[in-house]
Amino acid sequence: MSRQPGQDADEPIDLGQDVANIARVYDCLLGGKDNYSADREFARTLLLENKHVERLVRDNRAFLGRAVQFLVQEAGVRQFLDIGSGLPTRENVHEVAQRSAPECRVVYIDHDPLVAVHARALLTCTPQGRTAYIHADARESATILGKASRAGLDLSQPVGLLFVAILHFFTDAQAVVAPFRDAAAPGSHLLISHGVDRPEMAGIAAAYQDQLGVGTPRTAQQILDLFGTWELVQPGMTALPDWRPADKAPAPDRAAAELGLCGVARKPEPVIGRGCTR
Ligand SMILES: C[S@@+](CC[C@H](N)C(=O)[O-])C[C@H]1O[C@@H](n2cnc3c(N)ncnc32)[C@H](O)[C@@H]1O
Repeated sequence: MSRQPGQDADEPIDLGQDVANIARVYDCLLGGKDNYSADREFARTLLLENKHVERLVRDNRAFLGRAVQFLVQEAGVRQFLDIGSGLPTRENVHEVAQRSAPECRVVYIDHDPLVAVHARALLTCTPQGRTAYIHADARESATILGKASRAGLDLSQPVGLLFVAILHFFTDAQAVVAPFRDAAAPGSHLLISHGVDRPEMAGIAAAYQDQLGVGTPRTAQQILDLFGTWELVQPGMTALPDWRPADKAPAPDRAAAELGLCGVARKPEPVIGRGCTR
């Protein structure tokens, strides 16, 4: 059995190497080495379904980096909850954030046992900053928020909520993200990327459903709804390579770009009642 969220860290872990899993397949498509033959086989299946999927995951990772940089440099965010953080790779969130502001605090959350094993790699940081890893299911919002506070996040202050390439693994994505939106202070930012429900995505979604039992691409309106009443920052919800592209970014692969949408939204200040004037 895999380590369950909350299981003692000393207990032996079965990584479930014989079946593909989300985090390792993503690592494989990114060109990483933390994956097994079942994951590579499944990645090949995905590429047969749609050869643009490799570019899609790279565009997703690049969006994550640009958006975190924006949150630190332009929105002044100094603390982050990265939910569904994935296996450590290049340009992890704390590396991007602490490069601009060394005091940034980052809490990573994932339910994957191999991510837990590699969490140590995520926990190196600047002397001023702080990183932590919470092994939990994203649905356990109360547990995650409690542990994040104990790990040093001040939830009375704005936080960057990162739900990057995770919400399409839930049929009830709104129920997953809403408690985090509700708990976050005004001025917090929500970062989402998500697979789009369109014919070119059908084979990819079907392969995920067949082998991993998850995979719910959504329409643009359904993805927009996941931001709740938060205000999208410019340029709004876009294809992954179109969100504040870097100056010398390579030309986007439009076929890959059509498969994903992303955006960053800010939680507005509460409207103060005006009272009754006569
Ligand atoms: C495609 S990866 C994305 C990684 C990273 N956010 C990125 O965009 O580069 C999705 C991650 O979500 C995690 N995940 C999926 N379902 C989850 C759940 N119910 N609770 C916590 N993590 C989950 C997977 O283990 C995986 O690491």
